Amino acid sequence: MTKANLNFAELPFSFIPTDYNIRYTFKDGVWDKGVLTQDQTLPMHISATCLHYGQQVFEGLKVYERPDGQAQVFRIDQNAKRMNRGADKILMQQVPEELFIEAVFRVVNANRKFIPPHDAGGAAMYVRPILLGTGVQLGVSPSAEYTFIVFVSPVGPYYKSGFAPVHLIVEEEVDRAAALGVGDIKVAGNYAAGMRATMGAKKKGFSEVLYLDSRHKKYLDESGSSNFFGVTGDNRYVTPSSPSILPSITNMSVQQIAKDKGLTVEPRLVPVEELADFVEAGCCGTAAVISPVGSVTHRDKKFEYCKGDTAGPIVTDLYKTLSGIQFGVIEDPYGWTRIVPEGV
Ligand code: PLP
Ligand code: COI
Repeated sequence: MTKANLNFAELPFSFIPTDYNIRYTFKDGVWDKGVLTQDQTLPMHISATCLHYGQQVFEGLKVYERPDGQAQVFRIDQNAKRMNRGADKILMQQVPEELFIEAVFRVVNANRKFIPPHDAGGAAMYVRPILLGTGVQLGVSPSAEYTFIVFVSPVGPYYKSGFAPVHLIVEEEVDRAAALGVGDIKVAGNYAAGMRATMGAKKKGFSEVLYLDSRHKKYLDESGSSNFFGVTGDNRYVTPSSPSILPSITNMSVQQIAKDKGLTVEPRLVPVEELADFVEAGCCGTAAVISPVGSVTHRDKKFEYCKGDTAGPIVTDLYKTLSGIQFGVIEDPYGWTRIVPEGV
């Protein structure tokens, strides 16, 4: 298949139009059969619940081209489950898992020429499913109608630096999510809540913030767009656990890989003081993959985790194994990958 005329090796992480997106509507108690469209806009009622009351959840996953040219997705079932946990929590209609997977396969097939070639420096096709309350309400109550859309965009690394260190600052003035709120699901409002923190950090020359738990302001939470982990000198993979962190499918996978490489994996409360104990650190997520953390600044202290611009050996090894599985270079012993069947 002829690829789209794009410089795949230099792609940013930003929206690049493709040929089709797919949309399903839930109305009168049933999901319709979905339709592929070239329309990139979405007409909706001005009183739709997603516009006023934030009834919206979304997902992010990637399609990777294997060395043999086949396309594969990574842990798509987990994205479907997480979106449905989110939908449930904010009283939205769930999308059946089979429908979620069918939607992704249909839209990927309609846009195959935009899947970055295997050797394009880690570029992949980003898949963005969104679920919206599109029924009309004025009082605060759940919508009776929903729209499920999946669009795709070929992307490069989330951080401009690629697999080069990112620099974080501990955020103490802004909370991304409340302890008993919706930080653990992928709702748009969490990103709105964090934007001023992220933009403030960027202005100061950092890549992103590292949030503290909102209840005690004592423990590390996560970054604005990825989970965080540290590696200690005695081979422990330490990653914050709290009710306001989004359970990252990448982190879950890296924990398994780390365990199988002989590291002790510790998902738990991580006091901010433990930043001093790490010899390496990373951010992990679908967009971020594993981005090595070069430093974390906390007040007047800067903790460094890379030698110059070079990531440490453990973070590098975890990255190679994870992306090797995702791109089909390393055999997937976990059953995490799934070939996108043609003709769906
Ligand atoms: N945390 C936040 C706030 C995110 O937006 C993401 C991205 O989805 C992640 C963590 C990483 O999650 P995953 O690995 O499932 O992409
Ligand atoms: C992802 O990694 O898929 C995300 O959703 C992060 C996003 C904020 C770009």
